[in-house]
Amino acid sequence: MRYSLIPALALGATLVSALPLEGRADVAQDFNPPPGGDTTILNYALTLEYLERKFYAEGIANYSQADFVKAGFPDPFYKNLKEIYYDEQTHVSFLAGALGPAAVSEATYSFPSTDPKSFVALSSVLEGVGVSAYLGAAAAIADKTYIPIAGSILTVESRHSSYIRAALGESPFPKPFDTPLDFNQVYSLAAQFITGFAAGAAPLPFKAFPPLVIQASQYYYTAGSSSVTFTHGKTNAVKAGLITADTPVYAVLFSGLDKYYVPVYETQGNSGDFKFDKLPAGGDGVLPPTGQVYVVLSTSGTAVSDANTISGVGILEVSPPGDRNLF
Ligand SMILES: *[C@@H]1O[C@H](CO)[C@@H](O)[C@H](O)[C@H]1NC(C)=O
Repeated sequence: MRYSLIPALALGATLVSALPLEGRADVAQDFNPPPGGDTTILNYALTLEYLERKFYAEGIANYSQADFVKAGFPDPFYKNLKEIYYDEQTHVSFLAGALGPAAVSEATYSFPSTDPKSFVALSSVLEGVGVSAYLGAAAAIADKTYIPIAGSILTVESRHSSYIRAALGESPFPKPFDTPLDFNQVYSLAAQFITGFAAGAAPLPFKAFPPLVIQASQYYYTAGSSSVTFTHGKTNAVKAGLITADTPVYAVLFSGLDKYYVPVYETQGNSGDFKFDKLPAGGDGVLPPTGQVYVVLSTSGTAVSDANTISGVGILEVSPPGDRNLF
């Protein structure tokens, strides 16, 4: 049930040398260099930084210090938000400067947040995705001199993430390991907020998976107990020709360096929804899924890859199954 990252990467390397380029999508989480190599990776980072910059620019314009205090985020929350905006803005100018004429242009974005609380909740998601994006991309960087530079941005994004999580009353550091995501997985998350590209802009060589809709039932899920329903998960995949009515489908959860495969079933009355009854609890050396957990639907119950992902990426905020027993 559990795949460690290291064998997956080693397997990836073997497959890459044995297969033509098109075959690379079969590798479990594709951490291989994308077409265009480091330039593409820097543009990918720039795309995420543009998104974050725009998000915080809107947030500090839309909501005042008093609004945040009223919503339960005490001083100096607004001041720190401005500091985060400054960091993202600086990341944008740094990356755009490094890329020069090869830099992608900024897209247009739309965010679903409507008040301070939903803004901060989305901030938490975006910072977590930023951490996962830099972490996954690090494996694909060819020029080693970029690694400490990408790392120095990554650690700041993770500090943002901890601060925002704590402000929401969530654990600032929910698991001993953060979660690497691959390019298409991150692109799928970012694409939800992108409404258009600049005219003539060359697109990044990534694709978004069909969206995964998690039925809103709770804010926190609990490892070992919560059920999760994927609205129209079956209907959409059948309609898109990705599965037939009988194809076994698995929810694959990514948390830290652990992956969990959970079979899903169609809920009663041919609803077209997929569901599983219990989030994995971990155990036997496998940590429970905790914190910002990513989920995709896949036709593989053992080796998820971009090629067998039928929709995603969804996000669950998961609490551990109980108090940690450390001593
Ligand atoms: C800011 O407010 C505008 C106008 O109401 C809204 O469209 C946008 O989504 C808001 N942005 C954020 C990040 O909350």
